Amino acid sequence: MLDDKDRIFTNLYGMGDRTLSGAKSRGQWDGTADIIGKGRDWIIQEMKESGLRGRGGAGFPTGMKWSFMPKETDGRPSYLVVNADESEPGTCKDREIMRHDPHTLIEGCLIASFAMNAHACYIYIRGEYIREREALQRAIDEAYDDGLLGKNAAGSGWDFDLYLAHGAGAYICGEETALIESLEGKKGMPRLKPPFPAGAGLYGCPTTVNNVESIAVVPTILRRGASWFSSFGRENNAGTKVFAISGHVNKPCVVEEAMSISFEELIDRHCGGIRGGWDNLKAVIPGGSSVPCLPGATMREGIMDFDWLKENKSGLGTAAVIVMDQSTDIIKAIWRLAAFYKHESCGQCTPCREGTGWMMRVMERLVRGEAEVEEIDMLLDVTKQVEGHTICALGDAAAWPIQGLIRHFRDEIEDRIKHKRVIAAE
Ligand code: NAI
Ligand code: SF4
Repeated sequence: MLDDKDRIFTNLYGMGDRTLSGAKSRGQWDGTADIIGKGRDWIIQEMKESGLRGRGGAGFPTGMKWSFMPKETDGRPSYLVVNADESEPGTCKDREIMRHDPHTLIEGCLIASFAMNAHACYIYIRGEYIREREALQRAIDEAYDDGLLGKNAAGSGWDFDLYLAHGAGAYICGEETALIESLEGKKGMPRLKPPFPAGAGLYGCPTTVNNVESIAVVPTILRRGASWFSSFGRENNAGTKVFAISGHVNKPCVVEEAMSISFEELIDRHCGGIRGGWDNLKAVIPGGSSVPCLPGATMREGIMDFDWLKENKSGLGTAAVIVMDQSTDIIKAIWRLAAFYKHESCGQCTPCREGTGWMMRVMERLVRGEAEVEEIDMLLDVTKQVEGHTICALGDAAAWPIQGLIRHFRDEIEDRIKHKRVIAAE
């Protein structure tokens, strides 16, 4: 359980002053030049020791990712790109940071860019986030006016420019290499990896792409120390984490909590419990739409971190917790996701382009109870042919929710098919 004094995002609900002076009164931009003065190696080492794992969904260790950037320049500039294209269904945590606590992100951009030898950073923000874009641009302008950005940023001796780029509504542009293509003015289609962006990213130059939350926590970690951050959660699952909880809880919310909090405590403490009580819980998607759902009974014993959810064949993903009670048609809910992924597939690789259409169509038949029982295993087989056989993670993201449905709710699918038969025979 996290005390208020340990929250990094002290204005997550926008109740305080959102301007630069408000941010400064909450401790932001305090000693930024001193942090930079400690040097790149110190910053990267501290980030490694903090145990921070990427908050965009994949959970890759942030300090390690930064260390892939070249230490010496070979004539090419280095870039930091912040992925603010938050589009994973259920996910709205970065939105709250950008509209209510934007200076956490802006200060983080400066420090992280310095650590990676980058004089420029691009924040790529989801096109639909119009108010957030305005709030962020206002905060960037204030920071320039105050000398925190630009030449000799924050008196650190480092020249640094920060740009805001707008997406145009494509989910796939949140995939880091599609995002880079889009920034370069091309159609947003993922590139094959490797090479990873650290080797050849934006304009073929060394680039690190980090999620908004991953960058926004950096200044506080460096001010309060790696050991402070890693004291929350448990080994390999360190820190505080912003969760976005939606669905059938009494009070849906976005909240910062300690990593490894139990699911029950997260829901009871911040959401006023499950709608209709805990016995009414049917299923949970614990990490945004790309991870498999888990039954309510499993989640009641659950721990909200990378390792526990992985051990239970799901994932922390973006920490977007979608709660479904007994009134939910779980087959229809997963069909809706299948339709989403089919719509958002960029179409450049066959298993994803064709597979997402196949999966959606079979799911449609399952929703109506019109499929044969044998089609359940056929569908599972199709998901296995898509999973791991595509250029980017969208293929996996389309396959996994269906695998979770079949793993945990096969009886419900079969019952629907049999029930339909009985009705048809009457
Ligand atoms: P990934 O595991 O391929 O990569 C994670 C990061 O680590 C990337 O920045 C990658 O460049 C870096 N990396 C991995 N291996 C590396 C290596 N050997 N050398 C250098 N760098 C390396 O995962 P990906 O495709 O970036 O993200 C997938 C996740 O994104 C999904 O699990 C999903 O939860 C999440 N997601 C989040 C969304 C959102 O709105 N926040 C939207 C859609 C998906
Ligand atoms: Fe495009 Fe899908 Fe292939 Fe990703 S997996 S590159 S979204 S076709």
